[in-house]
Amino acid sequence: MCGIVAYTGDRDAYPVILKGLKRLEYRGYDSAGIALVNHGMKIFKKMGKVAALEESLIGIELKAKAGIGHTRWATHGEPSDRNAHPHKSTNGKLTMVHNGIIENYSLLKQDLLKKGYKFESDTDTEVLLKFIEDIYLNHGVSLEEAVRIALKRVVGAYVIILLNEDDPQTLIAARKGSPLVIGIGKGEHFLASDATPIVEYTKEVVYINDYELAIVRPDELILKNLGNERVTPEITQLDMELAAIEKEGFEHFMLKEIFDQPVSIYDCLRGRLDAKIGSIRMEGVDKHLDQLVNANRILIIACGTSWHAGLIAEYVIEELCRIPVEVEYASEFRYRNPVVNEGDVIIAISQSGETADTLVAIEKAKENKAFIFGVVNVVGSSISRQSHAGAYTHAGPEIGVASTKAFTAQLVILTMIALRIAYTKKTIDQTRYLHLINELHEIPDKVSLILQETESIRRLAEKYQDARDFLYLGRGYNFPIALEGALKLKEISYIHAEGYPAAEMKHGPIALVEESLPVVFVATKDAYHEKILSNAQEIKARKGKVIAVITEGDTLFKEVADDVMVVPQADELVAPLLSVIPLQLLAYYIGVAKGLDVDKPRNLAKSVTVE
Ligand code: F6R
Repeated sequence: MCGIVAYTGDRDAYPVILKGLKRLEYRGYDSAGIALVNHGMKIFKKMGKVAALEESLIGIELKAKAGIGHTRWATHGEPSDRNAHPHKSTNGKLTMVHNGIIENYSLLKQDLLKKGYKFESDTDTEVLLKFIEDIYLNHGVSLEEAVRIALKRVVGAYVIILLNEDDPQTLIAARKGSPLVIGIGKGEHFLASDATPIVEYTKEVVYINDYELAIVRPDELILKNLGNERVTPEITQLDMELAAIEKEGFEHFMLKEIFDQPVSIYDCLRGRLDAKIGSIRMEGVDKHLDQLVNANRILIIACGTSWHAGLIAEYVIEELCRIPVEVEYASEFRYRNPVVNEGDVIIAISQSGETADTLVAIEKAKENKAFIFGVVNVVGSSISRQSHAGAYTHAGPEIGVASTKAFTAQLVILTMIALRIAYTKKTIDQTRYLHLINELHEIPDKVSLILQETESIRRLAEKYQDARDFLYLGRGYNFPIALEGALKLKEISYIHAEGYPAAEMKHGPIALVEESLPVVFVATKDAYHEKILSNAQEIKARKGKVIAVITEGDTLFKEVADDVMVVPQADELVAPLLSVIPLQLLAYYIGVAKGLDVDKPRNLAKSVTVE
């Protein structure tokens, strides 16, 4: 949440920062702002999206060789010009951008108020900056030392970058809990919340760790810990192409990412699953196979869409591996007193690898000596680095705020892990093992087939776009897909939607059914097919509208349903990889039909780095 960018070097800083902010806008779009030193400190900020800031700056002289920028997801203080970052110090010489939350800001603020400081915004960021300023001006220390002293007093999460009018090409940055990447160019450095603003200029990056402070000049990067000891920067090569973060002709990132899925699923399988010889090899799994196979219990921790992937994994792992699995919301897990023992394996699932609740939940489980396995999309992210082992999903950058291709990649990884464990544990017979490997291998082609038939889904979206509520029902492996379908619709179209296990309908939600209520059945062919068909009949009997995701050739369900979305035949264990696709498209097209910004739905941000 909140995106930050900074530059120091020989280029014109403004276009670099502006472009970077556009790339990071998925992290928050309540306001945007830039600070540059150009005949004194200049701050430009505006409520709303980066484009609004850009427009307001047309015709203004913005030449500078260094600067900082911010795109905000509001925490402390409503979205407004006043609360937009960068914030400035009382003497106007320092400006700062911040991503995170300073939890003890109100105590710090009271002290500063007593000393006569005044505040122009409602933000915790301005408090931290003025706290740093107070130390800097009154304790006879360098700015770097003032930052270090201040951060030792801070409770919370942060990435901060400071720009100093008196030393404009030296940026001071620090992190705890929120991400920061520094790109190393020739005589220049780029700082950002993730690598997307950097990849265009350099592939050499350093991921900054918690409690590290970076002093960044055009030709120098000094890393220190909060104890003022030097830390050697670990340079990583970025494995990301510029094309992957551009729309490539699609109207929205979300649509591009839905259409990416045949390739992203294939990339996830590539080098791991070999259908010809019937094998699965996953480095992170193979190295720790004993731990996984002998787990007393597997605990899956995640949030949102990733949590839905975890729910499906629970069904798959218990079915194939006979290991008890529990799935927890990270936000609940971290604050309760869960039973975690040494033989437990924690699987943490996260697209961004930065979700604050998941990160803290991992730390908590680690304290209890559990083994942490991360299933993460963003390479080098905090969760991947905090895990003992893991597997990257390799879905490529996901920029649309609603998760689509990361979800299917998570399912693929989790299914491969289950198969690998089951095969070693001998809880699966050879025939079924080979059959499921083959089923996974065929998924990319089957997803392509669904994506060839999107026009009918678009028409369906137009037909139902004015519905006030939606109900999504599924059973077995498709129950979490009902939850996921409802979540996608809610976040993209702002239509109220609920997902339920189909049989639970009779225990309450059926009271909602009336002529105007569309009920989406996720009803691909599986062991419960007749049961879910009966549930659909029950909705029809009450005049509800039945929309169904069905397997091709399913004439029975087609007769009952008002509308259908058809997917190819697949084993029920991998069917969620197909049944979710029409639901992603339905949500997308309804959002578009309603004229909404599907890539940046209101109030949301992609990387939830605050709890
Ligand atoms: C929904 C969505 C969110 C995320 C959740 C966890 O479309 O994207 O529900 O799934 O915020 O994020 P990650 O997976 O980055 O930990």
